[in-house]
Amino acid sequence: MYENMSEEEARRRILECVGEYCDKFHNRKKEFEPGDRITYASRVYDRSEMTNLVDSALEFWLTAGRYTDQFEKSFANYLGVRFCSLVNSGSSANLLAFMTLTSPLLGEKRVLPGDEVITVAAGFPTTVAPIIQYGAIPVFVDVTIPEYNIDVSKLEDALSDKTRAVMVAHTLGNPFDLRAVKAFCEKHGLWLIEDNCDALGSRYEMEDGWHYTGTVGDIGTSSFYPPHHMTMGEGGAVYTDNPILNKIARSLRDWGRDCVCPSGKDNLCGHRFDGQYGELPFGYDHKYVYSHFGYNLKATDMQAAVGCAQLEKFPGFVEKRKKNFKHLYDGLKDKASAKGYDIEDKLILPKASEHSDPSWFGFMMTCREGVSRKEVVEKIENAGIQTRALFAGNLTKHPCFDEMRELGKGFRIVGDLHNTDKIMERSFWVGVYPGMTDEMLDYMSTTIVDSLPVASD
Ligand SMILES: Cc1ncc(COP(=O)(O)O)c(C=O)c1O
Repeated sequence: MYENMSEEEARRRILECVGEYCDKFHNRKKEFEPGDRITYASRVYDRSEMTNLVDSALEFWLTAGRYTDQFEKSFANYLGVRFCSLVNSGSSANLLAFMTLTSPLLGEKRVLPGDEVITVAAGFPTTVAPIIQYGAIPVFVDVTIPEYNIDVSKLEDALSDKTRAVMVAHTLGNPFDLRAVKAFCEKHGLWLIEDNCDALGSRYEMEDGWHYTGTVGDIGTSSFYPPHHMTMGEGGAVYTDNPILNKIARSLRDWGRDCVCPSGKDNLCGHRFDGQYGELPFGYDHKYVYSHFGYNLKATDMQAAVGCAQLEKFPGFVEKRKKNFKHLYDGLKDKASAKGYDIEDKLILPKASEHSDPSWFGFMMTCREGVSRKEVVEKIENAGIQTRALFAGNLTKHPCFDEMRELGKGFRIVGDLHNTDKIMERSFWVGVYPGMTDEMLDYMSTTIVDSLPVASD
C-alpha cells in the first residue's frame, strides 16, 4: 500500500482515513428522545482529536514531546500565565502543586509537616489528600449555599501560628471569593493554591480587572479527565506565574532532578559536566543530580496531542456551558411558575459568586425541608437523567478519616460544618456539558419540576 509513498505521504493518508473513520463511526448523533440517558458529562470531540492522537502514535515518541510542548505553551497562553506543566491527572496536579510548597528552595516560607492548610470538606478528596499525605494538617471551614464555596467569614477564625497556605477548589465552576481569600493570604503571608479542576474557563473580577480562575493564587491546577471542561482521557496541569515555583514543580514532576533539559535532550545549557552539587564530585553529570525527592507525574505525548485539539475548541465549550446553565435555570423557574409555585420554595438553585463569570461544570441543587433528595433523585435517574453528589459531601465523615477521627488528631474543624453536612444530605447536581442540546435541557427541567412533591404530598 505504501510502496510509492514517502513517509510523510503515508502518514497523511493514514490520518485522512482516521478522519473519515471518526466522521463515520463516532459522533453520529441520534435525535434525542425523552427517556434517553442524559449523562452528567461527556467528551466532545471530532476528527481533529482522533487524527492528532494517531499522528502522535505514528511518531511513537510516547513520552512528553512536541505535542506536550505545544500544549503547555498554548494552555499557559490561554490562561495568561507564564508557566504550565502538563501532568497525568488533576490529582497529580494537586499533589505536585502542594508538594511544590514544601521545597527547601522556599526557605522560611516552605510548608513543613505539622503546619496547617485551610481548606473545605465539601469537595473532592484529592484537593485535601496531599496535605495529609505529607503530614500537614488540613483545617476545615464551612462553605456557603448556594455558592458551595469556602465561607470566607471563617478564615480569620481558622488562622493559627501554624497556618501556611489555603488550598481550595472553585466548586463546579463557581469561583470562590478570590478577593477575600487573596487578601487574607496576602495579609498573613500565606500561599494560595486554586484547585481549578472543575472551573477551567471561569473568570473572576479582581480589583485590577478580570482573571481566569487558577491564575490569581500562587499555583492553579486542572484536570483533563473525561467529564471535565476539556479532556485528554487522563491528564492535568499545574500553572503559575512564579519562576521559582515553576522550577520546583518541574523538578518534582520529573523525578526530582535539577536539570531542566526535556526528555531526550542533553546539555542544552552547556554546563552538563562543570557544576558542583551537594557533596557530589565536581562535574558530576547534571542530568542525574537531584534537588528534590521527586515523582514521575508526566503525561504522554498522545494525551497532549488530544489536548491540543481540545484547546482549539475550548472557548466554544465555555460559551456552551454558560448557555446550557442559563437554559436549564430559566426552564426550571418558568416550569415551576407555570405550575403555580416558585421553584426556590422547593429547591435552592445555584448562584454565581459575586464578581464572577463561571464556566459551569454542573448545575447544583439543594432540596428544601420537606423535599426528599432520595425521592427526587430516584425519579430523575429513573427518567434517564444522571445525577451526582458534590463528590465527598463532608470528607471528614468518610472511612479514610476513621483513624484520625478516633485519635482526634491530624485535622481541625473550625466552627461547625453545618452547610457541608446539609450538602451531603440534601444536594445533587446534573450536567451542563457542551454536547447537550436544548431538547435535552428542556426535558431535564420538565423532569426535575415534575419530580418535586406537590403541596398535598
Ligand atoms: C475539584 C477536583 N479536584 C481534583 C480532581 C481530580 O482530578 P483527576 O480525576 O484528573 O485526578 C477532581 C476530579 O474530578 C476534582 O473535581
